Amino acid sequence: MKPKVYIAKPIPKEVEELIANYCDYKIWNHEEPIPKEVLLKEVEDVEGLMTPKGIITEEFLAYAPRLKVVSNVAVGYDAFDIEAMKARNVIGTHTPYVLDETVADLAFGLILTSARRLAELDQFVKSGKWRGIEDDFYGQDVHHATLGIIGMGRIGEKIARRAALGFEMNVLYTNRTRKPDLEERYGIKYCETEFLLKNSDFVLVMLPLTDSTYQLIGEKEFSLMRSTAFFINCSRGKVVDEKALIKALQNGIIRGAGLDVFEEEPVEKDNPLLKMDNVVTLPHIGSATAKARFDMAMKAAENLVAGVTGKVPENIVPELKILIEK
Ligand code: GLV
Ligand code: GLV
Repeated sequence: MKPKVYIAKPIPKEVEELIANYCDYKIWNHEEPIPKEVLLKEVEDVEGLMTPKGIITEEFLAYAPRLKVVSNVAVGYDAFDIEAMKARNVIGTHTPYVLDETVADLAFGLILTSARRLAELDQFVKSGKWRGIEDDFYGQDVHHATLGIIGMGRIGEKIARRAALGFEMNVLYTNRTRKPDLEERYGIKYCETEFLLKNSDFVLVMLPLTDSTYQLIGEKEFSLMRSTAFFINCSRGKVVDEKALIKALQNGIIRGAGLDVFEEEPVEKDNPLLKMDNVVTLPHIGSATAKARFDMAMKAAENLVAGVTGKVPENIVPELKILIEK
């Protein structure tokens, strides 16, 4: 008998075929997110779950007594309650590597759009306001400017490479661990957070959301930034104190922001950020290209199948690797 699994989001046909070879499966094939009560019912007797945003809590796990593996179709797994999963012996996997370059592209999209006011000026042209050469089309240079990257993980590295080699930027970074190999390869410089904040034209956070990164960037950090600086975030909204960001923008403490992520998603309609010309807002599309999303779904399927067929999934999240080392 094949192991039972549930797939809580639509997936490409080839990915479904892979799962069908090894598993007895059901799938949520609708655009809108699966309602919680449907999910809780569906996981009652499954050994594997593939989910776009695994909100896995102790309460959830109580509904899924046979669950062995949760395969998250995302690299970020802040919605996993790691302790609850450890206690219940449930493995969690994610999809690193396959989206790194794609997210790094978007980071540059946000940098360029913010600095050169692309979104604002696109609206200007489309609304028929363009009359001639006007000085206030001016933006800020990206090339040879200083980019400060907070978080030099896999994606941070891809951003640093684009910045240093492509735009010849001066790149500063902070990270839990120093990366001498990257410093040598790209000429990037490790520094204290305070130095980075004071000296960067663009401050970009590329951090996973954890207890120690929650609201890491707040009022104090914004106050250290240059009044001409742009703040860029395409990692997780909650690594920033959004109220402090709004205040910094309203009071001219910083020049602007490029945001793919928010404290609450979808972002609330009355969020002041949505009214600001100097803020670029995107609907969490860091990995949203057809290829990256296909590769993520395939990787998630491979992790799922491995987890329910007695193999070790390739991408167990680091905090849960201990479960297979026992
Ligand atoms: C997207 O935000 C992801 O974590 O993959
Ligand atoms: C992102 O989460 C990374 O590992 O760079």
